[in-house]
Amino acid sequence: MAAYICTRFCINKFKDSVRFIPRRYRVKSKWAQTRPKFPSTTIALQNFDATYSIQLGNLWPSVRVAMLSEQKYGALINNFSSTASVITSELQAEGCIDFIGSHQHSKDSMPLHKDSAEVDVSKLATQEPTISPDIKCLVFPQGDISRFKPSRQDSSGLLGYYLLDAASVLPVLALDLQLGHAVLDLCAAPGGKTLALLQTHTVSFLLANDSSGSRTARLCKTLQSYMPRENLEENKIQISSFDGCKLGQIEEKRFDRVLVDVPCTTDRHSVMVEDNNMFNRSRTKERQRLPLLQIQLLMAGIHAARPGGDIVYSTCSLSQLQNECVVQQAICQAQEMGISVQVQDLGWLTRCFSNTFYFAPQLSVGELVLPHLCANFGPIYMCKLRRSN
Ligand SMILES: C[S@@+](CC[C@H](N)C(=O)[O-])C[C@H]1O[C@@H](n2cnc3c(N)ncnc32)[C@H](O)[C@@H]1O
Repeated sequence: MAAYICTRFCINKFKDSVRFIPRRYRVKSKWAQTRPKFPSTTIALQNFDATYSIQLGNLWPSVRVAMLSEQKYGALINNFSSTASVITSELQAEGCIDFIGSHQHSKDSMPLHKDSAEVDVSKLATQEPTISPDIKCLVFPQGDISRFKPSRQDSSGLLGYYLLDAASVLPVLALDLQLGHAVLDLCAAPGGKTLALLQTHTVSFLLANDSSGSRTARLCKTLQSYMPRENLEENKIQISSFDGCKLGQIEEKRFDRVLVDVPCTTDRHSVMVEDNNMFNRSRTKERQRLPLLQIQLLMAGIHAARPGGDIVYSTCSLSQLQNECVVQQAICQAQEMGISVQVQDLGWLTRCFSNTFYFAPQLSVGELVLPHLCANFGPIYMCKLRRSN
């Protein structure tokens, strides 16, 4: 009987005395189950409203609308497929434009970003790196929200194109790959950018890494669906599943180019899709630790680059904390270790592609593609660094 009474009361220590409080008067404010459950997408949007309205000012309402609207895709043409040119012609007949190949004409067309109009193009032509003519990414023109059909296989089973956010090809173009380069793709899965950099046919060796076993398996599957088996069996392409933070020491000063496409809050996904959402309450700590992980990964990328080599850091977030702050922090940390890295100007990239993408006005470091209803790509942030010693 005594035991029965004890379970119905709780003991409250009050000024050295012990009081029994009947259960009906107790306030259970902290039980996780009783907290109101908001969808992760709502939490993400509330979070973005609070931070991006300050960061982006009067641009935020239009970026917000675009992020909540249907995203546009690009078709990265698979030039390993025998049907690449036929597929390119078919898509062009449907009105698609190869935004990479057609950038030479950008001077004549209307830029989406007003500042681009003020640029002295003649001065910049000399600074513009040559982009491999082999890499093609087709998009429907501005304002055209047509969707791509699923890609078809050629006679050897290779798919004709890979659908991705067309802006995610920009970090690969920023790498400015040259013939014979050894390349590290530090966070490579599911493989969109890996595939893009292989389309340039310049890479002499590629290490594609991702710490997640299941995502590395997806990366392997992507490469098998788009590349002939013989290319994959050469020692030219290696796939690994290390913690990228440790790869810097293992592969010190080995690569001409390093792509550090880090895990981030994946802003567009976070406001649209409940599944695997970074704003799910169970992932709060993981989300808060992101900037630290991003700095560690960028530092690993810097360590893995050879002196004179280039590193491109990229995210699909608008967050200053995950973008510019990470880059600036990594530059400081590298300096403290005696490694000198300089930010490289990517102005040429924004000028070449300003009629396809809407770029954010001047950032402290790097470039950012803002989602825009007329060009609903991104967000994609990228910053290029050169290691000098
Ligand atoms: C933005 S995604 C990369 C997308 C990929 N570059 C593409 O274009 O398809 C970030 C990736 O980083 C991986 N990742 C997370 N933590 C990592 C770590 N410590 N080392 C290496 N990869 C990591 C995740 O598994 C995820 O696949």
